[in-house]
Amino acid sequence: MERLTSPPRLMIVSDLDDTMVDHHNDPENLSLLRFSSLWEEAFRHDSLLVFSTGRTLPMYKKLRKERPMLTPDVIITSVGTEIAYGKSMVTDGSWVEIMNHKWDRGIVEEETSKFPELTLQRDCDQRPNKVSFFIDKSKAQEVTKELYQRLEKRGLEIKIIFSGGKALDVLPKGGGKGQALAYLLNKLKAEGRLPVNTLVCGDSGNDTELFTIPNVYGVMVRNSQEELLEWYAENAKDNAKIIHASERCVGGILEAIGHFELGPNLSPRDVSDLFECKEDNVNPGHEVVMFFLFYERWRRGEVENCDAYIASLKASCHPAAVFVHPSGAEKSLIDTIDELGKYHGDKKDKKFRVWTDQVLATETTHGTWMVKLDKWEQTGNERKCCTTTVRFISKENEGLVWENVQQTWSEESEMKNDSNWII
Ligand code: GLC
Ligand code: MG
Repeated sequence: MERLTSPPRLMIVSDLDDTMVDHHNDPENLSLLRFSSLWEEAFRHDSLLVFSTGRTLPMYKKLRKERPMLTPDVIITSVGTEIAYGKSMVTDGSWVEIMNHKWDRGIVEEETSKFPELTLQRDCDQRPNKVSFFIDKSKAQEVTKELYQRLEKRGLEIKIIFSGGKALDVLPKGGGKGQALAYLLNKLKAEGRLPVNTLVCGDSGNDTELFTIPNVYGVMVRNSQEELLEWYAENAKDNAKIIHASERCVGGILEAIGHFELGPNLSPRDVSDLFECKEDNVNPGHEVVMFFLFYERWRRGEVENCDAYIASLKASCHPAAVFVHPSGAEKSLIDTIDELGKYHGDKKDKKFRVWTDQVLATETTHGTWMVKLDKWEQTGNERKCCTTTVRFISKENEGLVWENVQQTWSEESEMKNDSNWII
């Protein structure tokens, strides 16, 4: 978050399962990829991305490995009981203290064990400040009421949340996705970085609290659960800042960005002619996102195999531009682009995808830009990632000229070899 010196233009706070990630209708993750390229191209540089999930930290990390997910600025896990920052996920220690106020996991376990209606979830879904169960929907209300009373008598201050028609979480009273967001907003405000706009996105019961935070926009995605829609009908249907989207999952988030006019919402993935899509202002991040999108389409054989494309790419390279391959080998950038020419369609029908993450551009000296990003490449289930640095020089009438591209295998990359890695 420190990279932003002024208030973020937009802060998106989104649930993951069945909001950001469509588990039922999008086996190729296309909607997630659409969001990702839009975020990196148009929002990353001045906005904040926050994921707020019911998953525990290990289960979130697992999801990251399974799906083409972006790296959020803040990750709130375990139903708003844990907050961490940045790529290295640094835990918020003050939040841990708040979570331990009038909380005792042992007492929660003891009291809940007296309810045969409650079935404990797997070990990997349990955390110090989150005790999670499954329960039959018809029993949820009664058990919740009784449990509140018993735990209160034992001196605890807790909160019980029913989600997805079957999950019941017991948390500290100060926890939950809403409280965690309120805490984050306060923190940002104290630092003089209160977001200009905040959009919360969710689909189920544990997201309800997000929609109760004052002054935020909200989207309940089309596929929202009954418990969230019921809460909305009873409590918030007159709030014009909350919509029930007509699109599923991330499609609903894009819809809300458009509906509330929070910024551009046309994903670069929905643009057919990437070369036509020129920016008025100098935007090196845009240049990089568009290039790697073209690269994906080229290798998938989705754009015409036409010399003019390669010629146009070469024309935007400095004649002496160098490409440092992740293996360490140095080549001319123009030769590399020439070589790319030969790979048209080589990944057709191979489930090949390319996406960029954490695209950050800085102007080093006047007219010289450094763009740093993680570039991911996936073929079938095999994925690789390179930390990529691109140096551009911005010339009047010529736009941005590629001067240097340097890549190293990323820590996160499961594969660290160079077979078939072109750029
Ligand atoms: C996620 C968690 C689960 C929790 C549920 C509802 O699915 O994995 O433990 O009960 O969210 O909050
Ligand atoms: Mg969800």
